[in-house]
Amino acid sequence: MPLTRWPLPALLSWGAAWLLFMQLQRLGVSPMSALLAAAFLGAALAFFHSARWRRLMVALGFPLSMLLTGGAAAWPAWAWLLPLALLLLAYPRRSWGDAPLFPTPRHALQALSELLPLADGERVLDAGCGLGHGLRELRRSYPQVQLQGIEWSPLLARLAGWLCPWAQIERGDMWAQSWQPFGLVYVFQRPESMARVWAKARAEMRPGASLVSLDFEIEGQVAQACLELGGRHRVWVYRLPGPAR
Ligand SMILES: C[S@@+](CC[C@H](N)C(=O)[O-])C[C@H]1O[C@@H](n2cnc3c(N)ncnc32)[C@H](O)[C@@H]1O
Repeated sequence: MPLTRWPLPALLSWGAAWLLFMQLQRLGVSPMSALLAAAFLGAALAFFHSARWRRLMVALGFPLSMLLTGGAAAWPAWAWLLPLALLLLAYPRRSWGDAPLFPTPRHALQALSELLPLADGERVLDAGCGLGHGLRELRRSYPQVQLQGIEWSPLLARLAGWLCPWAQIERGDMWAQSWQPFGLVYVFQRPESMARVWAKARAEMRPGASLVSLDFEIEGQVAQACLELGGRHRVWVYRLPGPAR
């Protein structure tokens, strides 16, 4: 069975968490620190999966197996806050108002470079880059550009930096960052954010630059193109007409 075939990745992740837990204790680390480290490892490995239910299974496998084997009896009461702390680290309260993590599907942006050719070294931003799935798809289409990502969640930003060493990734608020230097800004946010995204693009991006949105169109604006990806996904492409008045 190939190593990537489900459920082998889940079993390997749980095994890795248990191994870390046992090794750390053997090295004299306290059970609670070993538990925290192993739970963090499980949560980090979960982000390699795009389906939400798989991420949950990988992340929760180690703590649940601890519970089932009776290890929980030794936990202090506050240890039950651990899953909540992990969740808040991945999705800080502030980013709930924009969009939680949903990754750009593979090959979603492959038709983009024909429609929107970009010069070598052009700067391209994934605003709210999550774990870097959008950046990877942009790189497939535009291997010659300079890719940047910004992500509010410190955990996701750190992991994205690690998973996409060829991109420049910053932890920060995409609304506070200037989009002026970018020839293309890519967003995969939520319908309610799109009016604000367009207002920001108009105010800051240069005429002729492009704004690309996965799935969510900008109400009241005529798109340069809408690429149907099959299923429920669409890529909306907008060209900046001129400086905001
Ligand atoms: C739907 S996910 C898209 C992830 C990535 N762009 C992709 O396509 O694979 C939206 C991401 O935007 C991030 N986000 C939400 N609000 C943000 C903000 N104000 N500044 C930076 N990132 C934000 C979320 O944490 C989440 O990771």
